[in-house]
Amino acid sequence: MSLIRTVIEGCGSYLPDTILTNDDLAKIVDTSDEWIYERTGIRERHIAAEGELTSDLGTAAALQALEQAEIDAKDIDLIILATSTPDNTFPATAVTIQANLGIHHGAAFDLQAVCSGFVYALATADNFIKAGQSKKALVIGSETFSRILDWEDRGTCVLFGDGAGAVVLDGQKMNGASDARGILATKLRSDGRYRDKLYVDGGPSSTGTVGHLRMHGREVFRHAVTNIADIIQETLAGTNYTTKDVDWFVPHQANRRILDGTARKIGLAPEKVVMTVEKHANTSAASIPLALNSAVADGRIQEGHLVLMEAMGGGFTWGAVLVRW
Ligand code: ACO
Repeated sequence: MSLIRTVIEGCGSYLPDTILTNDDLAKIVDTSDEWIYERTGIRERHIAAEGELTSDLGTAAALQALEQAEIDAKDIDLIILATSTPDNTFPATAVTIQANLGIHHGAAFDLQAVCSGFVYALATADNFIKAGQSKKALVIGSETFSRILDWEDRGTCVLFGDGAGAVVLDGQKMNGASDARGILATKLRSDGRYRDKLYVDGGPSSTGTVGHLRMHGREVFRHAVTNIADIIQETLAGTNYTTKDVDWFVPHQANRRILDGTARKIGLAPEKVVMTVEKHANTSAASIPLALNSAVADGRIQEGHLVLMEAMGGGFTWGAVLVRW
């Protein structure tokens, strides 16, 4: 049987030049490298320069992904940008990236699912492609979280960083064999009862301001491992695979302790976990494509490998994607 599979043909990423270490942060708020590293696994994060926008980061990552995929920007007919830190309230930052790439056809829009944004965007693009509505897509996660942090709140400002990552997707006819390349399964969830556990205290309709990130860290932590482990099992349940078959686990990079706890709970060997949180911190929707690109660039992820991605974030939202690279 012939069916359309969404194949990831290339990925790219971009990190701003400025690096802010834990020691640098200790000069701003009452914290220490030891406290931050022990609880989160983070040592440093990148911070966007003044005037450097989410669209700039996203455009740079998209260009690298297109180059790696050897696909011309003119062939892209869908751009989905996952972000919670758009350049402006509107228009969508995705259309700025579209214009930056010289694309004047197809559709471009932003998608907001906070840290789960990349997984949500990947699942959405996969459905557009499988429905035949789009042939080649760019899915981008780009964030400038440094702009919505309260730099006097040591409980949150130490956790996040700026960056962008992107993948190029291509709809290809496959024979349906289980070892064929492409996205094999996606699963998305949300539960708005928990929207006040991780949120921004401003917005166009509520305060008319941008606001700052607020978080009940312990409660986020408590839900994260359970929700992530559940969604992984649900995603795998619809396939012939188990966690034993997974070559690489590329989770949202929130916190080393959440990642270690999840890997233990689902029975994944620690050496299969791609971990970039030490150098990038939590870049929200950008963290998975940043991690993906690092593991592709250093040769860990190879064609034919089974790659499992997952994320959880504000909302709560959570989800997972299983792909044959
Ligand atoms: N440096 C030093 N001390 C700090 C800092 C800091 N940066 N931040 C908080 N503290 C203090 C607190 O004030 C508190 O002091 P007190 O006991 O005198 O009141 C103490 O440390 C303990 O605070 P807790 O918030 O209870 O610390 P906890 O051990 O829970 O660790 C952390 C906090 C790291 C945020 C943890 O709750 C966590 O990892 N939560 C998950 C949150 C997360 O990853 N969010 C990312 C977004 S969601 C996602 O992507 C999944």
